[in-house]
Amino acid sequence: MKLYRALQSQGFGSRKGCVAQVRAGAVAVNGMVCDDPETEVDPAGLELTLDGVAWAFREKAYVLMHKPSGYECSHHPSHHLSVFSLLPAPLLQRGVQCVGRLDQDTTGLLLFSDDGQFIHRMISPRKGIAKIYRATCAEPVTDAMLDALRQGVALNDEPAPIAALACDRLDARTLRLTLAEGKYHQVKRMIAATGNRVETLHRETIGSHALPADLPPGGWRWLEPADLQQLEQPWPSARS
Ligand code: URA
Repeated sequence: MKLYRALQSQGFGSRKGCVAQVRAGAVAVNGMVCDDPETEVDPAGLELTLDGVAWAFREKAYVLMHKPSGYECSHHPSHHLSVFSLLPAPLLQRGVQCVGRLDQDTTGLLLFSDDGQFIHRMISPRKGIAKIYRATCAEPVTDAMLDALRQGVALNDEPAPIAALACDRLDARTLRLTLAEGKYHQVKRMIAATGNRVETLHRETIGSHALPADLPPGGWRWLEPADLQQLEQPWPSARS
């Protein structure tokens, strides 16, 4: 692959822009400055450095973020900031999309990718990839509420009751809920159907991959092949 094409594929701008950056001496290949945009590079293990910042070549981009409250999962947010504003320009340029959406006031594990097949697998209810949420409620979490969530609650526009895969009380007003689907406002609607109300909502886990404890709100991180395997782990093996 030509160097300028490698740069373009990683989101570093137009063909013309990438050629110009190489000619200007702003690009290093595996640590060595290279000013010929036509140089052949091997994508396997390729490390590109642009203006002193190193980027490993990635065929597809897979990223996780600790979504903060007050950000919308949209390129054109209506009332808040966009989660995309927290990602670096090359990721936006290569067209990463949210893998499912979280509400603006929901925090926690959010994925992005430019791999359409991966996005489809992750959000397809048929794949049975569980998502675990922690919700604090306005009213105490009762046994009756937990039973209702386990057995299934009726939601508007849903033909059949929807049940949580698992549901546990963490403290008087907090519960942990495991869902197989990702329907619109699903956690809030399920909890509202029991007569309670969600005050805060946080996604902890997708598949068997948890939000890293050391990643602050607003932070993002690349996902490696082992992470992707954990993410795609179907329930119930994801439980262990
Ligand atoms: N369920 C909700 O109600 N909101 C979210 O953001 C995610 C799941």
